[in-house]
Amino acid sequence: MVETDVLEARAAVDGDFDLVYTSIGTINWLPDLDRWAAQVAGLLRTGGTFYIRDGHPALYAIDEHAHGLQLRYPYFGNGGPQQSNDESTYAGDGKVTHSRTYQWAHALSEIMNALIAAGLQILRVDEGTTLPWKFSPRMVEVPEGFAWPESERALVPCTYTIIARKTAMNSRVPSPAD
Ligand SMILES: C[S@@+](CC[C@H](N)C(=O)[O-])C[C@H]1O[C@@H](n2cnc3c(N)ncnc32)[C@H](O)[C@@H]1O
Repeated sequence: MVETDVLEARAAVDGDFDLVYTSIGTINWLPDLDRWAAQVAGLLRTGGTFYIRDGHPALYAIDEHAHGLQLRYPYFGNGGPQQSNDESTYAGDGKVTHSRTYQWAHALSEIMNALIAAGLQILRVDEGTTLPWKFSPRMVEVPEGFAWPESERALVPCTYTIIARKTAMNSRVPSPAD
């Protein structure tokens, strides 16, 4: 096993890979998705597959403590972090000493454009209504994990998945500023 800052992942291992997989609760900790996507592309062999399933940015805009579905946080990132204080930990019942958390909002378009600019061809995008963790105390247990109460389930996505393939050419797409 190799442990490293994911933004330095290419330098931490040798060789090219058939598959790069990013799981739940990941890129919201990263300020710079272009750097992240460049690591993904750098680790893949040409023709290799990238797969990500993560919390949907529309979910992260919702106030988890509100009594109904209520928007509270930005959907679109502005480059700066959102700060919060939370002593609890997803790793158990204990409390953490350093409770300040920094997270960065990334819209779905920002995620997809970072991957495209790194030379990945997006093959498929899906959005899901269940989560492997209880994002809000109002979520209910379902066979796949947790979800909003049934009457609200179709109102907002909980996760997204993207499948992409590394192309032979680096295909930088012009930004609106070009
Ligand atoms: C919410 S957990 C998700 C863990 C795992 N994906 C899962 O589904 O169980 C977030 C993890 O990201 C790690 N993390 C945050 N920033 C990172 C970075 N820059 N490089 C590598 N790991 C990082 C944290 O240490 C933590 O283990």
